[in-house]
Amino acid sequence: MGRAVTAAVFPVAGRATRFLPATKASPKEMLPIVDKPLIQYAVEEAIAAGATKLVFVTGASKRAIEDHFDSDPELEHALRVSGKDAQLKSIQSIVPPGVDCIYIRQGDPLGLGHAVLRARSAIGDEPFFVHLADDLIAGEPGCLQQMADEHAKHGGSVIAVETVELESTSSYGIVAVDETDNDRVTQIVEKPRAEDAPSNSAVVGRYLLLPEIFDKLESVGRGAGGEIQLTDGIAALLDESPVHAYSFSGVRYDCGSKMGYLQATVAFGLEHPDTRDRFRAHLKSVLAE
Ligand code: UTP
Repeated sequence: MGRAVTAAVFPVAGRATRFLPATKASPKEMLPIVDKPLIQYAVEEAIAAGATKLVFVTGASKRAIEDHFDSDPELEHALRVSGKDAQLKSIQSIVPPGVDCIYIRQGDPLGLGHAVLRARSAIGDEPFFVHLADDLIAGEPGCLQQMADEHAKHGGSVIAVETVELESTSSYGIVAVDETDNDRVTQIVEKPRAEDAPSNSAVVGRYLLLPEIFDKLESVGRGAGGEIQLTDGIAALLDESPVHAYSFSGVRYDCGSKMGYLQATVAFGLEHPDTRDRFRAHLKSVLAE
């Protein structure tokens, strides 16, 4: 029913104030979990879901992201002559052939909705993913693949949701859904207080959006926090075009917060073949102290 999704937008222009000073000169999306930056996990998830056009909406000090996905002939040569084949392979396979990277400057960081709108000319008239790399989701198949499957079955836009504590609603976009209509979203509110929240079903950093969203984002104006909110654009779409809330399978780590970042590091460190055994033993000995 839905169309194949081959484009993904990565808004990476936020100020990342929760992670200062680490993010003063380097974007939070370059923070590594074990040995890969968050943005590489994001790109791998999007490519696995069928994306071949990757659009990065960047801000100040985001050159590191562009460099990360560019080839580095000098480094490749140095690794080749010193026989470091595994390391060479790890940097050559970051962006596979047939995948294009496009970089667009956001200018002023006027909000997530504004960042998505900046990708309009690169996306055109197709459905596309929006992936917020600081929400790292461990799971197989990846969250975007699950959402693409959902879109293929039912059409419409798809937004990933997760149940959160009622006290946390003020940190998220919160939805109300019609359960009799395949969890079609009937209401979406940005960061409501617990007493005003329509539910405790929170939007997380994965969206599959139809291009109709762009006209809505053009006209929503500034919302919560004085920013142009993606949530407000989606709210404006609800009456015209179905948006489905999707409860993904997988574990989400909010790597934009210190605690979530540490939890992800522990979880991925316990899985990574280079570290899992010694790291497990280390954690046991630390906890036994
Ligand atoms: P956040 O709400 O996490 O904000 O943005 P932030 O600025 O990155 O971080 P804190 O809260 O100050 O620590 C959600 C996503 O939207 C992007 C961010 O990069 C992040 O991926 N974003 C936000 C933009 O690209 N542009 C903006 O103007 C705002």
